Amino acid sequence: MRGTQIRPARQDDDDGIRRFLAGLSLHTQTLRFFTGVGAPAASLVSALIAVDERRDALVATLDGEIIGHAMSYRGGAADVEIAVVVTDEWQGRGLGPKLIDTLLFRASVRGAQTVGMDVLGENRRVLRMIRRIWPDAQMKVASGAVEVTAMIRQAQVFAEQRSGASPLTV
Ligand SMILES: CC(C)(COP(=O)(O)OP(=O)(O)OC[C@H]1O[C@@H](n2cnc3c(N)ncnc32)[C@H](O)[C@@H]1OP(=O)(O)O)[C@@H](O)C(=O)NCCC(=O)NCCS
Repeated sequence: MRGTQIRPARQDDDDGIRRFLAGLSLHTQTLRFFTGVGAPAASLVSALIAVDERRDALVATLDGEIIGHAMSYRGGAADVEIAVVVTDEWQGRGLGPKLIDTLLFRASVRGAQTVGMDVLGENRRVLRMIRRIWPDAQMKVASGAVEVTAMIRQAQVFAEQRSGASPLTV
């Protein structure tokens, strides 16, 4: 993954996020947003780059182009809810878990202890990833979706075991 960088989203990422969303396959858009996003609404773009006391957003970049995005926000069943998406060409190379590790490290620094994630029931790939990151995660099935909740501290321990380093070194 030489040349990739993970950093907080910025207000001037709006065009980059639009290009990123437009480059995702309909399948990937649907797994992440539960619908196709077509020409994304300005409200969606600004929600994806907003960073404040309730929300955090990270982008993974390669040569300045966005190839992955992850966000967390307070509210819901867990202390933070998270969502993540990697561009189709970059899936399967470990970028998604790295985004999640970095996001959760930042959330835990802000005091969050539990994490939640809503996943489509058919999204076997991410459910496998969740089982690997959080072996003791609770999964509640509700009308085609799976509500996942887990302890963040446990995720951090597994992240450190996987990489042998702090998540901030990605
Ligand atoms: C879920 C997601 C973020 C994971 O990120 P990633 O960088 O692909 O993560 P990994 O490299 O660890 O791959 C995760 C698993 O998917 C598998 N995978 C990824 N791309 C694949 C592909 N094109 N074909 C087959 N398997 C693939 C990997 O082999 C791995 O499987 P394993 O757990 O059995 O080893 C990414 O696949 C994605 O963006 N999916 C669409 C959006 C989504 O589902 N978001 C989650 C809901 S918010």
